Amino acid sequence: MRAYDIILKKRNGGKLTKEEIEFMVNGYVKGEVPDYQMSAFLMAIYFRHMDTEERAILTEVMANSGDRVDLSSIPGIKIDKHSTGGVGDKTTLVVGPIVASLGVAVAKMSGRALGHTGGTIDKLESIPGFRTTLSEDEFFENVRKIGIAVVGQTANLVPADKKIYALRDATATVDEVSLIASSIMSKKLAGGADGYVLDVKVGSGAFMKTLEQATELAEAMVGIAKVHGKKAVAVLTNMDVPLGNMVGNSLEVLEAIETLKGRGPEDFTQLCLNLAAWMCHLAEKGTFEECLKMAEESLKNGKALEKFREFVKYQGGNPEVVDRPEEILPMTDKIIEFQAQEDGYITAIDTEKIGIASNYLGAGRKTKEDSIDYSVGIEIVKKLGDYIKEGDILAKMYVSEVSDVETATKLLAESYQFSAERPESKPIILGTVK
Ligand code: URA
Repeated sequence: MRAYDIILKKRNGGKLTKEEIEFMVNGYVKGEVPDYQMSAFLMAIYFRHMDTEERAILTEVMANSGDRVDLSSIPGIKIDKHSTGGVGDKTTLVVGPIVASLGVAVAKMSGRALGHTGGTIDKLESIPGFRTTLSEDEFFENVRKIGIAVVGQTANLVPADKKIYALRDATATVDEVSLIASSIMSKKLAGGADGYVLDVKVGSGAFMKTLEQATELAEAMVGIAKVHGKKAVAVLTNMDVPLGNMVGNSLEVLEAIETLKGRGPEDFTQLCLNLAAWMCHLAEKGTFEECLKMAEESLKNGKALEKFREFVKYQGGNPEVVDRPEEILPMTDKIIEFQAQEDGYITAIDTEKIGIASNYLGAGRKTKEDSIDYSVGIEIVKKLGDYIKEGDILAKMYVSEVSDVETATKLLAESYQFSAERPESKPIILGTVK
C-alpha cells in the first residue's frame, strides 16, 4: 500500500477502505507518512468528503491511536455531553450536577479554551484549589461516591487527533464536516460513554455559522455514534448571542452557581434543562418530558446545587464558593462600562468578537503556554432585540492590569449593530437531530 495511491483515490472521489484509512492515520502518527502527504490527503477529503461509513472508520482509527477509557466498572448507562464550542458556554457546570443529582453518572473529560471559545477546564480551575487532574483511581472513586468527576483530557487521548488537528490548522482544512465530526467523535469514543448529547452551536459565535452547516455536522456526528452502537442526540442551539450574560472564567462560574440557585438567565437555564433532560432520557430514566420535569425539580429543590458543592469539594476546590462566590472566586473590582453610541434596537451581536474581546482582557491564551487571568471578562448587559438609547450601558468589562482595554473596546464597538426596527427573536433551541 502507498500513501500516493490512497491520496489519488480520494482526490478522484473514491471511497476508502478501513485498511487505507488505517494506513494513513497510523502511518502519520508513527511518522511514516510525512506531513506533505497527510496534508494532501486532508485536502482531498476537504473537497471530496467522506460517507458515514468512512467517517465512522476514521473516528475509530483515531480513537484507537491512544488510551481508551473503560467506564464499565461504573454502574448504569453513562452519557457524555459535548459542546462544539461557543462564547459564555458554561453548561457542563450546571448540567453535570443536575444529571448527577438524578442518578446519572457523569465521568467526563473536558477541554480548555480553543480560539475565541472558552473551556470548561479553565473555568473550573478558577475555583481556588480545584484539581482538574485526578489519578485514575481518584476519578473512578469520585464517580462511584458522588456520581460526578470532570477532568482535563489525558495526554494520550487520541494522539492522532492532536497531530492531525495541528496540521489541519496550518493547511486550511479545519472546516470540513467529516474531519470535524471524526475529530470530535474520536475523543468521545475514547472517553468510554454509552451515549452522547451533542450541543451543536450555530451562529456568529460558533464554528458553524449557519443552521444548514450545523445540521450537517449534527447529522454526521449522530451518524458516527450510531455506527458504533452508541446512543446519540444532537441539539442545535443559538450562538448568535453569548450564552447567558457572563463571558470569562470566574464570571461564568458565578453565573453557573446563580443558575443552580434558580436565578440564572432564561436562555442559559432553558438550555441546561434541555441538555440534562436528554442525558437522563438516554440514560433511560424516563421519557424526555419526564426527564425535563425531573431536571427542573432538581434545580428547584436545591439538589443540583448541593451536588455542585460536593463535586467542588471532592476535586479539592473550596466548597464555600457556593455560598460566597464573589468572595471566593478571583474577581476584579475594576469595571469599565461600554456605552451605546446611538439609539435603536440591537439587531446583531458578532459573538465571536465578544469572545475575542474577552481574550484581549486576559480571559484566554495568546499561546499554549500563556496563563489565564480568571478574574476578567465581559458582562453582557443588553442583548439582541433590546431597545437602547445613546449612553445606555451595553456591556461591562471586568479588567486587570494585563487587559488590553483599547482592543477589547474596539471589538465590542464592532460587534454591536443597531436599527430602528425590532429584529425577530430566535429561540435558544433551534432543532434536534436524533
Ligand atoms: N473541535 C474539535 O475537537 N475538532 C474539530 O475539528 C473542531 C472543533
